[in-house]
Amino acid sequence: MKKTFALFFLSLTPDLTKYVSQKVKDLPHRIIPGVLTKEKLDPKTEILGVFTDSKITKDVFAALPKLQLIITFSTGFDHVDLAEAKRRGIPVCNVPTYGDYTVAQHALTLILALSKKLFESVKRVKEGNYDYHGMRGFDLQGKTLGVIGTGKIGQQLIRMIQGFEMNIIAYDPFPNKVFAKEHKFPYVTLDKLLKTADIITLHVPLLKETHHLLNKKNLAKVKPSCYIINTSRGGLLDGEALLEGLQKNTIAGAGLDVLEDEEVMRDPVLIFSEKCSECRVKTSLINAMLIDHPKTIVTPHNAFNTIEAIYRIIDTSLHNLKTWRSGKTQNNVV
Ligand code: NAI
Repeated sequence: MKKTFALFFLSLTPDLTKYVSQKVKDLPHRIIPGVLTKEKLDPKTEILGVFTDSKITKDVFAALPKLQLIITFSTGFDHVDLAEAKRRGIPVCNVPTYGDYTVAQHALTLILALSKKLFESVKRVKEGNYDYHGMRGFDLQGKTLGVIGTGKIGQQLIRMIQGFEMNIIAYDPFPNKVFAKEHKFPYVTLDKLLKTADIITLHVPLLKETHHLLNKKNLAKVKPSCYIINTSRGGLLDGEALLEGLQKNTIAGAGLDVLEDEEVMRDPVLIFSEKCSECRVKTSLINAMLIDHPKTIVTPHNAFNTIEAIYRIIDTSLHNLKTWRSGKTQNNVV
């Protein structure tokens, strides 16, 4: 077994920090709560473990000359500069399947909450107003759900939503015809999905090609009664176009677990980091307006966060580490 120094940036409850520490007790390591910053980096780090809120940029690679392995405690890996990892021959290991059920459940939660105006209803009652007027929702039965991306999470949502007697249509450049036949739904073009769906839900990775997959041009095609759900990555959806649609009543509402450049929402000081400040100010303002908008529900990138899923994430990540220490690599995206 390789004896290497591991540095983890993980915000965990004390019991989970202890759990991780126990599992890697034979390895010199440090667990730092919170997000990776340059000041907190230790140049002797050979293994770096992070969550999605820590960006592994070229600068991070440059500051860690001994780095040999990156493990991300997540499915998504768009926070890691994969090209740089590849260039340096450093494997990046992720957790391919921990949260299909968990994230799909969150997407469903947002759909249900929007359909029954749950957030406003609860708020009203807590404020002492027990009046249902203005709180009318809509039935899911008979409505059409448009699923963009039918990978693991999209498929799990389709399985779940069938109990609600919704029509399902899907778009994916790599359609799973066997699954579609089993679950009796058609694949359609993105254009048709946008024009037909009553609720559109995104389950696609953030890549160069999927950045602003839903933008001003194609959001203009959706029905004014359409709701948009995003539990994938903020960068898939042009926030400015969404906000404009909500303000002009050309989009009915949105349930968002992710926002573009969302790390600034957690740490506003980042606005002044090396990335274009003006762009960050603009995106943050749009995010704040989306959060504040009466037709949205925004949650803080919480879709993955259940007790069961957290243990699955930690166990798979540490297994990735153990496998690497024994001389092999598993679940590596680079
Ligand atoms: P997956 O890899 O199983 O499926 C992704 C699907 O997207 C594939 O079927 C692929 O063909 C499709 N796709 C690729 N490009 C596309 C495009 N241009 N248009 C339509 N479809 C396209 O991924 P999985 O496990 O379903 O996860 C989806 C995303 O969910 C992840 O990439 C991650 O960003 C996000 N996620 C969010 C979490 C949260 O806490 N909010 C937690 C876990 C994942």
